[in-house]
Amino acid sequence: MNIAMLGSGFIARFYADSLQAQRAKDSLISVYSRNIDKAKKFADDYHLGFYSDDMDTVVSRPDVDAVVISLPNNLHEAAVAACARAKRHVLCTKPLGRNAAEAKRMLDMVEEAGIMGGYLEDLCYTPKFLKSLKAVQDGNIGKVLWAKSREAHPGPHSDWFWDHEQSGGGCMVDLGCHCIEISRGFIGKNIRPVEVMCWAATQVHPIKAEDGAIGLVKYANGAIGQFEVSWCFRGGMDLRDEVMGTEGTIWLNNFLRTGFEMFSTGKGGYVAEKAESSSGWLFPVGDEVHELGYTNMFTDMFNAIENKTEPLETFYDGYIVNAIIDACYLSAKTGKWEPVQIEGWRGDQTDDYGSNFISYDDEHYLIKKEILPNGDRKLILKHKVTGEVVALDVE
Ligand SMILES: NC(=O)c1ccc[n+]([C@@H]2O[C@H](COP(=O)([O-])OP(=O)(O)OC[C@H]3O[C@@H](n4cnc5c(N)ncnc54)[C@H](O)[C@@H]3O)[C@@H](O)[C@H]2O)c1
Repeated sequence: MNIAMLGSGFIARFYADSLQAQRAKDSLISVYSRNIDKAKKFADDYHLGFYSDDMDTVVSRPDVDAVVISLPNNLHEAAVAACARAKRHVLCTKPLGRNAAEAKRMLDMVEEAGIMGGYLEDLCYTPKFLKSLKAVQDGNIGKVLWAKSREAHPGPHSDWFWDHEQSGGGCMVDLGCHCIEISRGFIGKNIRPVEVMCWAATQVHPIKAEDGAIGLVKYANGAIGQFEVSWCFRGGMDLRDEVMGTEGTIWLNNFLRTGFEMFSTGKGGYVAEKAESSSGWLFPVGDEVHELGYTNMFTDMFNAIENKTEPLETFYDGYIVNAIIDACYLSAKTGKWEPVQIEGWRGDQTDDYGSNFISYDDEHYLIKKEILPNGDRKLILKHKVTGEVVALDVE
């Protein structure tokens, strides 16, 4: 697969490092950057045969099979339009759009052009997420009741993120998009997100957008997704998830203090993404592009193009995430639960997912089973008809 890169900034370099890692069979062959010197520098650094400051020229070259969009949020739609015109498969970084209307237009464009629209949601491809997802899907933790995801760091590295017009919002659209899709993955992508409740505030930075937010996303089967995001967190990049099911729990820590600790007096340089210091006790990350999910993500995307199947994360998923975020912005304003507006929902149509109650026998539900400190075994049951709750001591 021959790949063209649009953009030459922070994420373009992470993606390029991932695409050129190991003995990859896919080749990054060209780059577009609006600044020709930066395009040349990127092409030199990654040994690419072609660079240009004209997007259409890069996208439409005949040797290009797929295009990766690594541009600021306000430029995603125009870049997707260029790929649709040239009929090139397109992989777009997160968030898909600044809002759901933009994301929906991008979804429609790729579907009408008959090209693949892959949503580069890397945190749904980390080794830990994929293994946890398999555990959930295999029934290891029963039915998921609550899935929480947190991303917090000291704020982004480029000016445009802090400008509402270009970014579409603050940490909620920037980081919340990851967290929402992580929870949605655990709860089940077929299950409709119904309504949201959200708090968002500008706590520290002199910007129009929020630099902190917490939200709840209610799903049609009664499960709840929760996200916590901040651009005010000090101490690195905090990426943690928790999933609670009727039969078990999973806790994930993806980045800080994951078993690799280093002390330095500060003579070195880069340690890990958003690490705030290069001295003292530090938390480096082994193979960062792999642990952040980029490697698995591109493998899934290119396999999907080759096999004419769908990748795990599509433009449709990106659109659903944007629809949830739009509802969150509204809820943060109104202080109320706000419905998630989705045009053309493709998942389950039912709202009836049955009850979570566990039967003990024909007459009773099991409420609780416990061994007490003195070794006694106790059962708490509820009669299905009378509603009476009884405690039984068992041998
Ligand atoms: N984990 C992730 O998936 C992840 C991480 C970081 C960024 N991103 C996403 O990647 C995209 C780019 O972010 P970044 O961190 O690389 O930003 P960046 O500022 O480091 O790089 C942006 C690139 O776009 C170019 N650019 C900026 N304004 C432009 C304009 N008006 N016209 C043409 N080109 C322009 C810049 O020159 C640069 O090459 C954003 O959508 C962001 O949300 C994703």
